[in-house]
Amino acid sequence: MKVSIIGTGYVGLTTAVALAYIGHEVHCIDQNPQVIESLSDGRVPIHEPGIKELLAMHLPLSFGGWDSFDPQSDVVFIAVCTPCKPNGDADLTYVEAVAAEIGRRMDEKPYLTVVVKSTVPLGSARRVESIITAALRERQINTRLDVASNPEFLREGSALYDTFYPDRIVVGANKTFSANVLRELYTPILEQTFAHPAGVREPQTNKLPVFITTTATSAELIKYAANAFLAMKISFINEFAGLAEHVGADITEVARGIGLDERIGMRYLMAGAGWGGSCFGKDVSAILHAAQQYNYDMYLVDAAVKANLRQHESIVKKLQTLLKVIRGTTIGILGISFKPNTDDTRDAPFLAVAKRLVDLGATVKAHDPVAIPTLKQKHPDLNVICCDTPEQVAADCDALVLLTEWDTFRHLDYNALGQLMRQKFIVDGRNALNPEALHKAGFTYVGVGR
Ligand code: NAD
Ligand code: UGA
Repeated sequence: MKVSIIGTGYVGLTTAVALAYIGHEVHCIDQNPQVIESLSDGRVPIHEPGIKELLAMHLPLSFGGWDSFDPQSDVVFIAVCTPCKPNGDADLTYVEAVAAEIGRRMDEKPYLTVVVKSTVPLGSARRVESIITAALRERQINTRLDVASNPEFLREGSALYDTFYPDRIVVGANKTFSANVLRELYTPILEQTFAHPAGVREPQTNKLPVFITTTATSAELIKYAANAFLAMKISFINEFAGLAEHVGADITEVARGIGLDERIGMRYLMAGAGWGGSCFGKDVSAILHAAQQYNYDMYLVDAAVKANLRQHESIVKKLQTLLKVIRGTTIGILGISFKPNTDDTRDAPFLAVAKRLVDLGATVKAHDPVAIPTLKQKHPDLNVICCDTPEQVAADCDALVLLTEWDTFRHLDYNALGQLMRQKFIVDGRNALNPEALHKAGFTYVGVGR
């Protein structure tokens, strides 16, 4: 099929690469000329494992600005950003601008399927449809249009894996033809008939993904409910981690003890410095905003957000307990991105913790394997010294804090790092380190809920 994808960020690019890999002819449009230039040269502007290798395979995949839009596309995906507005709602401006462009540019065809992959407020598919329809009508273009919702569930850092091996594909379509088009488009993934792509982790089971068809509104709500549930699950274990600290229990054992119950499940039960990222915070806020419009309280979702804010603050409290007065100290932070294997710093717990420490009068140094350029570009005002190595972070520090569990941080020579420090305190904000080894290296170790 001839597929156009609008927006080549984490979602658009991953979808494009995967669809091209399974045999579709894919053309991507982005309004940012630098992004297009670099992708056309095979350079990937985001850190996402595996994408570069697939780009190098000369797949039927191309990139361009709006001028290169193919007006004969069979399917057009909208995968642009939907950031959080100051009132908490999702900003639909980018999606609406894309809808208007599609309406201005499509040729006449018997059928057109437009797919909203961005995470959008309820009713957005209908809104996109009315914008495109109005623009087509103005140009007297006669096409049977359906705007389907096809929410994305990929995680950054394992975006390709999640796209090739999803648990389910959700399609909210109001007309049968568009549901059929999407089923056909995804058939190689639904039936798992493609060759396993090199550079992508292999799946542990051979379970086939479930194809769910529903209404656009239900599909839109499925996406918000999924993210709200995951955020709530993490906040739940973090809340118990706080109690575990009071009563002297170990939250990692509690998590295992409940997670082995299949009704609960082991995943998303890692206590730590709290959740971050481009979506949990934004999507939870958007769904709370939607509920407010109906005067409907969402107690659990609201509590998940409050618990998460407390979780960021709890890291600072641990430092206050260890160091007493923060002013005048030097704190070294390992990990800037909101989680490992990505350079994304959006809503990273690092930002909240570093800012609070700076406000309290600390000198903050930080290192991350990939996120330093992003931090410098997106948060030039944050008063943090970026270091090229963990050794530079540790030098003359009063305490180290681990905020992102990059694999390399698990295997550092903490003995040697300790020698460089002023005081040997370490706060493991991801329970990723070995407390015994650190004690042996002379550190006072503090984890989360253990
Ligand atoms: P992103 O910010 O990484 O990328 C968006 C891209 O869209 C940018 O390259 C931007 O230049 C481009 N763009 C914006 N307006 C445009 C326009 N009018 N024409 C052409 N290009 C335009 O965003 P993302 O992280 O890929 O997220 C996209 C959507 O997917 C969001 O709604 C997000 O909530 C959702 N989502 C994201 C993830 C994730 O892990 N990042 C996962 C699931 C769903
Ligand atoms: C999340 C969802 O997992 C995806 O399904 C969804 O598509 C995506 O949001 C989205 O809508 O953008 P992502 O934000 O990439 O994916 O990252 P996750 O792996 O879910 O982690 C989110 C945050 O939760 C990270 O800060 C991570 O450190 C934290 N986390 C995760 C925990 O603190 N504990 C856990 O057990 C798991």
